[in-house]
Parts: sequence; C-alpha cells; structure tokens
Amino acid sequence: MTEKTILRALKGEVLPTPPIWMMRQAGRYLPEYRATRAQAGDFLSLCYNPELACEVTLQPIRRYGFDAAILFADILLIPQALGADLWFVTGEGPRLSTITSAEGLKALKGKDDIHTHLAPVYETVKRLSEALPRETTLIGFAGAPWTVATYMIAGQGTKDQGPAHLLKSEDRATFSALIDLITDATIEYLAMQIEAGAEVVKIFDSWAGSLKGADFDEFAVQPTIKIIKALKSRYPHIPVIAFPREAGAGYVGFAKKTGADCVAIDNSISAQWAAANVQKDGCVQGNLDPRHMVTGGEALVEATQEVVRAFKNGPHIFNLGHGITPDADPENVALMIETVRKG
Ligand code: CP3
Repeated sequence: MTEKTILRALKGEVLPTPPIWMMRQAGRYLPEYRATRAQAGDFLSLCYNPELACEVTLQPIRRYGFDAAILFADILLIPQALGADLWFVTGEGPRLSTITSAEGLKALKGKDDIHTHLAPVYETVKRLSEALPRETTLIGFAGAPWTVATYMIAGQGTKDQGPAHLLKSEDRATFSALIDLITDATIEYLAMQIEAGAEVVKIFDSWAGSLKGADFDEFAVQPTIKIIKALKSRYPHIPVIAFPREAGAGYVGFAKKTGADCVAIDNSISAQWAAANVQKDGCVQGNLDPRHMVTGGEALVEATQEVVRAFKNGPHIFNLGHGITPDADPENVALMIETVRKG
C-alpha cells in the first residue's frame, strides 16, 4: 500500500496537490455534528463518549473525504484530568477552577495520575484507528503548556492572557512549576494516544503570540522541545506538528529548534512570507483565512489558489489558519477542497 499522503508530506515530500484537513472540521457548522452533540447532552459528555466522539470525528471524513481525521476532544481535558473543575458556558466558552498559588498547584494530581480520567479519549482513538478509511491519517493532539496554563490560571479564555502573564512576573517559581507539570502530563497523554493508534500528533499553542522575547523561548520553545524529545525517544517514527499561533517572526527556525516535523501557520502572516522563511526548513501546514468558509465565492477560490501556489515548491499540508467557525457554510468547505484538489 502506498503511504498516506499526509505522512508523505510530513517526511518532506512535495506532492502534486497538497493533502488537506481542517482545524475544527468536526464542529457546529455541520448539522450532523449538532445532532450528535444534542444526543450526547453537552460538549464535554461528547468528548468522553467514545462511540459519539468517534462518530463526530468521522462525519467530516464521510462528507468531504479529508486526508486526515483529528481526534475529537479538547485541550482542556488535561487540566480536568489533573484535578481542575471544568465546564462550558453556552455561548461564552470554557470555565475552570483557577490555579494562582503554590498551594493550588500542590493540590493538583501528578503526571501519571491522569490516565483513568482520560481513558475514554484513548478508547476513542483506538476505535478511530479501526474505523477510518485506510488512506486517512489519524491525528492526536494536546494543547501546548503555555496555552493550557493560560486557561488554568485565568479560569477562562482571555484576550491578552493577563492573569498568566501576571503570575509569571509575580510568582515565577509557581508559574514554571505549573508549566513543567503540564509539560510532563502532556508527554504521557500524547504517548497514550500514540499507543492507541494516533499516527501524528499536533501541539496547539493558540496563545504563543502573546509571549515576547525570552519568554517565547522559555515557555513556548523549551516545553515544545521537551515534549518532542520525549515522544521521539519512545516513538521515533511518529511525526509532530507544532502550531505556535501568531508567533510571527517566532515561526522562523521553530521546526529546527524544537524538532517538529511540520509547523502550522496562522493567517496573520502571508503564505509567500511563510514559504520563504518557514517552509525552507520543511513541511508547513496552513493557512487560509477561516472567514472564507463564511463568505465563499470567487474570493474563496482565489485565496485558496494563492495558498496552494505559494507553498507548491515545498512540502505542504493545506489547512485553515485557525479553526472553522460555527457560522461557516458547509458548501464553502466543499468548494475549498475542490479548488485544492484541482491543482
Ligand atoms: O479540530 C478539531 O476538530 C478537533 C477537536 C478540537 C476541539 N478543540 C473541539 C472543540 C481541538 C483540536 C480543540 C483545540 C482547542 N480547544 C484549542 C486550541 C485550538 C484553538 O482553537 O485555538 C483551544 C484554545 C480550546 C479550548 C476551547 N474549546 C475553547 C476556547 C472553546 C470555546 C470556543 C468555541 O469554539 O466554542 C472550546 C469548545 C470546543 N472545542 C468546541 C469544539 C468542537 C465547540 C464546542 C461545542 O460544540 O459547543
């Protein structure tokens, strides 16, 4: 059997047309997702229900034939497994109990105590590895330590990650210890996903862009190095995609520094710039603006072609620059895929 296209691109192969998948491809823009979510009751119940989580992961594969499926779960399951309270407020987003002191940190569980809580996620991965079409790559994932820490410290999403920056400057020892705990737990979590059948793992650092100067190295680059080194020592053949979102100049050299096989690019930078400055070191993933999935039309076709053209001389996995939004039109996704595959 020929190797799956995503795995070939991750090894550095330049393909005639780029393989494609989409962040948040299983999500609220799809009526079948909304129906399964209603059946599960709520978002977290869906994440912890292997049968239904497997079903929603497969929905966009059936509908569109994407080249990869991403495990249906959330980056905030790790804080919950470590002992934080987690719930989602409809229309607003996640809420967590907060960690703001050494005492709070001490009350959390250890890196090896997460697996009972996360067992349903591993079961979902196992079912997916058996259910997916043979040409579809299964991607596991986790949040990067900084991004996960921003939610654990603030107890919710924040515009500027203020509470995390404050703890970092006022109690650096506690902040660093929290980063270390998340880093170590993430290694064990991703290792278990790989054991269950994940063929690639992706590390989402959604708020990497708010780390500046030495902080970017210490809290975005270094934890990523540690995670990738530990995974590569156990699973040398498993590729890793890193997504230091809105890192800007920080994207340059990120793959070399961290050992990532691919860097995912957001849509705040141009594909031409990323081709010249990031793709020279290996595979890149990205970076169509997700707004096109809402607005569609000729502008979608042109912007899609522009991304394909910019990256066509190097290894590339086509994707959006961030997750598809609930107001997107499923027809626009079909148009994007058709445009990419036409070449
Ligand atoms: O990409 C995928 O389809 C795989 C599943 C996945 C989800 N979240 C499902 C989800 C992945 C990879 C994530 C990652 C995630 N979760 C990130 C990093 C990537 C990014 O988007 O920046 C972050 C920051 C989170 C935390 C999170 N989860 C927030 C802030 C929210 C609320 C915002 C929103 O979109 O509603 C979620 C909820 C969430 N995670 C949904 C999905 C499908 C929507 C839940 C619903 O059905 O109501």
